[in-house]
Amino acid sequence: MKQIHVELGNDSYEIYIENGLLDRAGNYIRSLTKAETVAIITDSTLEPLYGKRLERSLQQAGFRTGCIVIPAGEAYKNANQLLDIYQKLSDLGITRSDMIITFGGGVVGDLGGFAAATFLRGVPFVQIATSIIAQVDSSVGGKVAIDLPSGKNQAGAFYQPKAVLIDPDLLQTLPERFVRDGLGEVIKYGCIRDAGLFSLMETLDEHSITSHWDEIIETCCRIKADVVEHDVYDMGERMILNFGHTIGHAIERLYGFGHYTHGEGVAIGMALLTARTEALGLTEAGTARRLVDILKRYHLPYTVDASADDLLPYIGHDKKKRGSHMTLIILNRIGSCRLLPVELADLSTYITGGTPS
Ligand SMILES: NC(=O)c1ccc[n+]([C@@H]2O[C@H](COP(=O)([O-])OP(=O)(O)OC[C@H]3O[C@@H](n4cnc5c(N)ncnc54)[C@H](O)[C@@H]3O)[C@@H](O)[C@H]2O)c1
Ligand SMILES: [Zn+2]
Repeated sequence: MKQIHVELGNDSYEIYIENGLLDRAGNYIRSLTKAETVAIITDSTLEPLYGKRLERSLQQAGFRTGCIVIPAGEAYKNANQLLDIYQKLSDLGITRSDMIITFGGGVVGDLGGFAAATFLRGVPFVQIATSIIAQVDSSVGGKVAIDLPSGKNQAGAFYQPKAVLIDPDLLQTLPERFVRDGLGEVIKYGCIRDAGLFSLMETLDEHSITSHWDEIIETCCRIKADVVEHDVYDMGERMILNFGHTIGHAIERLYGFGHYTHGEGVAIGMALLTARTEALGLTEAGTARRLVDILKRYHLPYTVDASADDLLPYIGHDKKKRGSHMTLIILNRIGSCRLLPVELADLSTYITGGTPS
């Protein structure tokens, strides 16, 4: 079992990573609470796969359980589902002495976490993360949110879980598309903070990686925890987690959400930006080559058939834009990054299009 402490004063918590942890979740959660009832918030994909196992484990630990199932997918991370969850929490008689468990990927974690943050002004919750995105990123750090018609994650809160439970065995059922989505983010962690992780990924492939998930997830969670500890409210350092995201988001928007997955957009964004910063002498020579090679290795895209002029209009919406300048996250070399403030007028120096392949 791997355990990572996230130090946030009164809001500190532990991340537990262990194969088979799902069947022991009840005992872990019992050690955190005297709650009588736990409400499990999950989605329509996970409930039939694992719902019974989770409920059994919780009941064996003495909890009364209730299960709230939302339809799977980003389209349901919305206010209607949130209201529905409030109603069901109320029907279950959940009080602030009880506990909410979010059991799913980033959508369930964000939506269920926001419900936990706001129902009765806050009910304690535990994240059980089931997708790669959730296991390496979204379950750690306390950002919870729903999407609004005006944009993604536009209503949300900072609300820390009481613990994060990660069972890498659950990834066996994660559909291929979401595996690749998660791999983009894992490679990102190697790029910004951990040359060792990057090197390990260079020796593995999409098949052999399955026997290394626990150590890879641990490394990513340690990086995320460290970054979050230094910048809980996303005012500075946490920005480095957005490496590749400025161009990535622009690609997602240009092609329409759903064409490229988020992780694929990030993959292309990392590759295009690094090719440019290397050409400008800001990044160590050879870095862009290694990055493209690793993306190819995991069948992730590294270029798009779009020009800088196509992409630039979509970059204005990025959250990292402040006034007349914005901050790009660029690599010094593999494993090391820095913030680069850029005048908006100079943005085209750093944003290139892809090379059609
Ligand atoms: N809060 C944060 O800090 C943060 C960080 C990154 C991403 N996010 C959010 O996370 C979301 C994306 O996360 P995601 O990709 O996990 O989305 P998701 O929750 O929609 O999961 C992807 C799909 O995989 C299915 N799934 C998940 N685990 C599975 C498993 N073990 N077996 C079979 N199927 C499984 C889900 O049912 C869903 O259909 C976005 O809404 C994004 O905004 C939040
Ligand atoms: Zn991302």
